[in-house]
Amino acid sequence: MLRRSQTPSPAICHTAEEIEKMRVAGKLTAQVLKMIAPYVQAGITTGELDRICHEYIVDELQAIPAPLHYQPSPEYPPFPKSVCISLNHVICHGIPGDRVIKDGDILNIDVTVIKDGFHGDSSKMFLVGEVPLRARRVVEVAHECMVRGIQTVRPGATLGDIGHAIQSYAESQHCSVVREFCGHGIGRKFHDEPQILHYGEPGQGMQLVPGMTFTIEPMINAGKRHIKALPDGWTIVTKDHSPSAQWEHTILVTDTGYEVLTQLPGDPI
Ligand code: MF3
Ligand code: CO
Ligand code: CO
Repeated sequence: MLRRSQTPSPAICHTAEEIEKMRVAGKLTAQVLKMIAPYVQAGITTGELDRICHEYIVDELQAIPAPLHYQPSPEYPPFPKSVCISLNHVICHGIPGDRVIKDGDILNIDVTVIKDGFHGDSSKMFLVGEVPLRARRVVEVAHECMVRGIQTVRPGATLGDIGHAIQSYAESQHCSVVREFCGHGIGRKFHDEPQILHYGEPGQGMQLVPGMTFTIEPMINAGKRHIKALPDGWTIVTKDHSPSAQWEHTILVTDTGYEVLTQLPGDPI
């Protein structure tokens, strides 16, 4: 989500009933990413991948694809598709269309579903055929960044602790963290408070409290962190055209740590 300047707001905690609904929405989101995996192959277009996800979400899951017609603020045109697909040097918010997937591509598919009024939001990277080393590497580093961010989550930890875990690992691997976009609180709203920055200082910012739900979704570039927005009003690319990778999960703060709401039992995060 596009980072805004903001004054800190109190933590939003969910009731047990709301958390149960978040678990359902999270599970459906994970099912979409699992369903689409075998279709992600050279020769298919991003538009076809979107259509398959759309039909699965609406017909099989009886859920709503949150991105379709989504408009975070009046400056944005409504998002025209049901999932975001971001290839190679696209950082996030890629719009599915006629682009044919090729051998050597890396792509992020970002799925958000609404079920019974609650959102689940998750994305993962797919590697197609023989991927160049630099792209493979940024995919791995971004995944490890997400994992380290998630493993920081427990009551009393701060938002700065999460950001620091991500930033320090990314930079130790000579990659950079995109700063203009961040994770977000999630629940009845798609993008809620607080903002979850993927960089920061230990001990800074809001303390985590059981019942909070938010995403961790680091966008990591193989080159410099700077971004460029394309004229379609959505697509964000690396300014230096270096490959970029992102992974995302929706997380619940529990009494002892965290629960990954968008993970299926037995699957890796
Ligand atoms: N799913 C994205 C996120 O993780 C937001 C996409 S907004 C959309 O926050 F409209 F492009 F779908
Ligand atoms: Co998100
Ligand atoms: Co997302």
